[in-house]
Amino acid sequence: MTTDVLVVGGGLVGTATAWRLAQRGLDVTVVTGDLGRAASGVAAGMLAPVTEAAFTETPLLHLNLAALDRWDGFAGELARAAGTDPGLRRHPTLSVAATPDDAARLRDLGRWLGAQGQPCQTLTSRELRSREPLVAPTVRSALLVERDWSCDNRRLWRALRLAAEAAGVRTVPGTVERVEHDDGRVTGVRLADGSGWRAGRVVLATGADAGGHDLPFALPVRPVKGQVLRLRAGAEPQLQHTVRAFSQGFEVYLVPRADGELVVGATVEDRGFDDRVTAGGVYELLRDARRVVPVSAEYELAECRAGWRPATPDNAPVLGPSPLDGLTLGVGLYRNGVLLTPLVADVLAGWVAEGVWDERAEPFRLDRFPADRPS
Ligand code: GLY
Repeated sequence: MTTDVLVVGGGLVGTATAWRLAQRGLDVTVVTGDLGRAASGVAAGMLAPVTEAAFTETPLLHLNLAALDRWDGFAGELARAAGTDPGLRRHPTLSVAATPDDAARLRDLGRWLGAQGQPCQTLTSRELRSREPLVAPTVRSALLVERDWSCDNRRLWRALRLAAEAAGVRTVPGTVERVEHDDGRVTGVRLADGSGWRAGRVVLATGADAGGHDLPFALPVRPVKGQVLRLRAGAEPQLQHTVRAFSQGFEVYLVPRADGELVVGATVEDRGFDDRVTAGGVYELLRDARRVVPVSAEYELAECRAGWRPATPDNAPVLGPSPLDGLTLGVGLYRNGVLLTPLVADVLAGWVAEGVWDERAEPFRLDRFPADRPS
């Protein structure tokens, strides 16, 4: 079986890239394994270039900001193409502090963001409570980040699948065991059931599984486990903002949806492909959520899941060309997968279909890592 472009991975990035390629008139096939494993369905859906930023990750901050700028246009276009709302929510984020140490940390973050051209507003306790009365009285100060939004990642994924299908993308179930190549060029893939697909252009978008396709080069992507809970507010009062807390050594985020769901995340665990939801993980998330937003303890506990962030040694994605001609990488999106999806899909589709390389992605090529780094 032959196709113009084979996309390996039917998560958010693979599906969005396939949609963009099909819009350009290419025959596109997505090979997708067990979608229940994909981070796309477990994630909380934060579009958080600022509050997800770490002080040392300036290039990533700028990529993430560019990605957020893409969201308005992308969500509107996707809604029209899919005939369904992809769940973008333009409500701000509050990054909150409970102790003087936490408040000092927030001030440092605010100063660094200001120096990056991203001024944020510091709120007093009184200002915070008039904006978001559900935050605990122990919380002393907060940073208001107007343009850290959220998107219901499950709605988004569904919309992308519908848009891709409407654009003519073919989806086939299967696990890609090996990326086939000949004389330095990709030629297709071999699946676990022994079947194969031939294509001169292959896009790899398999999240945390990306290192496992018998590639002839090292791809330093590893799984970092995250346990995530979904609560339902029911008749209880609902949060309006995404709330993130760093307090006394714990980190928690609470992401409200329009329909009353509250996503609470997430543990960060270097345990390989361990998918167990643990008593300790759930306990800590619920405890920390209650410390910050006490009413959350009254919500229904609707779902507990574990997924794997695709992490790289510098926490930034791996985008674009690979050592195999014709094989393009869209992997390692780590903590920013939902946010980066529209931008990465544009970058990859432009490169694969037209050979146009978006300079914003230049710092994120695989060749920034030494070639002999073990995967
Ligand atoms: N972006 C949220 C997380 O990785 O937990």
